[in-house]
Amino acid sequence: MSAKILITGATGNFGKLTIDFLLKKGIPATAISALVRDESKASDLQEKGISLKKGDYNNYDSLVTAFQGIDKLLLVSGTDLANRSVQQLNAVKAAKEAGVKHIVYTSFERKNETETSPITFLAQSHIDTDKAIKASGIAYTIFRNNLYLEVLPMFMGEKVLETGIYFPAGEGKAAYVSRTDLAEAAANVLSSEGHENIEYATNNVKNYSFQEIAETLSKITSKEISYFSPTTDEYAETLKNAGVPGEYIGMFAGFAEAIKQGEFNADTSDLEKLLGRKPVSLNDFLKQVYFK
Ligand SMILES: NC(=O)c1ccc[n+]([C@@H]2O[C@H](COP(=O)([O-])OP(=O)(O)OC[C@H]3O[C@@H](n4cnc5c(N)ncnc54)[C@H](OP(=O)(O)O)[C@@H]3O)[C@@H](O)[C@H]2O)c1
Repeated sequence: MSAKILITGATGNFGKLTIDFLLKKGIPATAISALVRDESKASDLQEKGISLKKGDYNNYDSLVTAFQGIDKLLLVSGTDLANRSVQQLNAVKAAKEAGVKHIVYTSFERKNETETSPITFLAQSHIDTDKAIKASGIAYTIFRNNLYLEVLPMFMGEKVLETGIYFPAGEGKAAYVSRTDLAEAAANVLSSEGHENIEYATNNVKNYSFQEIAETLSKITSKEISYFSPTTDEYAETLKNAGVPGEYIGMFAGFAEAIKQGEFNADTSDLEKLLGRKPVSLNDFLKQVYFK
């Protein structure tokens, strides 16, 4: 009999992709369930034969009920940064109470674990969750996910092909990684054995600076795409004048500074091993998005 797998964040990109990869690998739909807050957003999952469990990271009892009978839990990190520690600690505690045997968690690559990190607003909840998972005694697999390649178009803006790249990341490099590759790796881990009590370095195999991103984009589009790294203050002022909401400015500036400080510059990667092939490269991703 197949292990019972539950995917959280199943109405989001990562969760949906992971479910599709599990099905593609031949895991029967009857072995997979999905935690959702709003069932009306999950009719596609129901059509695939996935059973829906209603639950919210804020509601501990809903999680304990949803996790009953589950062997392997993919805990996809949430989006509510201010409350994420409490929410995810709820999920870990509920997994323990329900008798879950293995948690796979989408954590985050980082170096600076102190409050001086420019992305402490999101790193702290990952640090707290990693600790809680390890302390729970449940077998775990932690993915230290690097920045998604999919965030690059957001950092570069809609008009990047006309204006060039304007982002205060200096010469900092990151091992940006495809979210689809990460979801496939998660499905591989959930559907095989031998991943217990391991933290995987889920980085791409190469690090890129924004100068290199601009050069790659120039080749793909046959246009001269420049890169300019303003000061953080100038960047914040420019975005404010363009009407970007303050919370986004703080978040983008924080990521840029973290990239500049080398928070996502990675020396090792377990992704090729987890996928059994080379991960999607920066060039592959940018071609897919910008080559018309
Ligand atoms: N490494 C990176 O560069 C990077 C970039 C972006 C995000 N992330 C992280 O990776 C995660 C997955 O990415 P994604 O693209 O799949 O994000 P996404 O599409 O926004 O999906 C987030 C999922 O989390 C669910 N969720 C949020 N709060 C919840 C709560 N209180 N209780 C239960 N479920 C909740 C959402 O449910 P609803 O549909 O009901 O809202 C959704 O299914 C994100 O949530 C974020 O933590 C990482």
